[in-house]
Amino acid sequence: MSSEAYIQYRGILLPLLAHSRESLEYAEKFSVEDSDVFAVTYPKSGTIWMQEILPLVLNGGDPTPVQTIPNWDRVPWLEEKRLALVVDKMESPRGLVTHFPYYLMPPSFHTSKAKVIYVMRNPKDIVVSSYYFHKMAEFLDKPGTFDEFMEKFLEGKVLFGKWTDHVKSWRSTDLGDRIMYITYEEMVQDLPAALRRISDFLGRNLSEEAIQKIAEHCSFATMKRNSMSNFSLVPKVYMNSDTSPFLRKGIVGDWKNHFSPEQLARFSSVIRKELEGENFSLPWSL
Ligand code: A3P
Repeated sequence: MSSEAYIQYRGILLPLLAHSRESLEYAEKFSVEDSDVFAVTYPKSGTIWMQEILPLVLNGGDPTPVQTIPNWDRVPWLEEKRLALVVDKMESPRGLVTHFPYYLMPPSFHTSKAKVIYVMRNPKDIVVSSYYFHKMAEFLDKPGTFDEFMEKFLEGKVLFGKWTDHVKSWRSTDLGDRIMYITYEEMVQDLPAALRRISDFLGRNLSEEAIQKIAEHCSFATMKRNSMSNFSLVPKVYMNSDTSPFLRKGIVGDWKNHFSPEQLARFSSVIRKELEGENFSLPWSL
């Protein structure tokens, strides 16, 4: 892995294009407000989907933010450089995203009442999505073959470390009713139902009409057309959508088109072993 493209931060690997020592220090000192809402994801689990959903739910379905502000400024990443540039313009309640494992959350988060929506996705689909992302993201090292990339993923030599560590950290918090768990699969299967859960969790009493309107605005097809969400504003030297679009397939189970029987056996046994003894179960079979 070429060291120029990455920064090592407390045991995890981050891309330098979006992160710096200063942005990480800023995140450590960030002042979390009680009304803040964090969508937390391991990369490729539905982060930009939540950057669409949160403003819509928090604003009663008003599409103005998702149609006028790029996703990275509308619901910024806690750990990225953009946060310091936009934070003063953000109105409460603020929506934020982070890929941080639980132990990297800033002290002010722990003393606040900020809420968390933790989005989980089947790791088999994550590794496929991430493989294509590494092909198109010119600021990252090329992924090599799918087999090589899967090994890196299982060893945690990828952005934000091991998937299992991330999930374990967020499944064993002491956040009580400040945290809600949802899966990417649930959102694909019945988006209005997922939006109702999110809206209830955030104390928004949205009408059925508003829920249906939000579901339309954050559907895969609408987001793919939305230049504020599909990364088409990013120059192709950084993200080359001709190689693979960021909003690629948006489906459940694409791993079946990529895993050989041997890869499936290896992947499942490594993940199962690492989750042995944990007191939560996964909503998918591995
Ligand atoms: P695929 O590569 O499998 O298509 P993240 O934002 O965490 O990087 O995750 C990106 C993944 O979420 C991509 O998966 C992308 O297509 C998918 N995604 C984003 N918005 C979506 C939507 N509205 N519906 C379904 N999938 C969506």
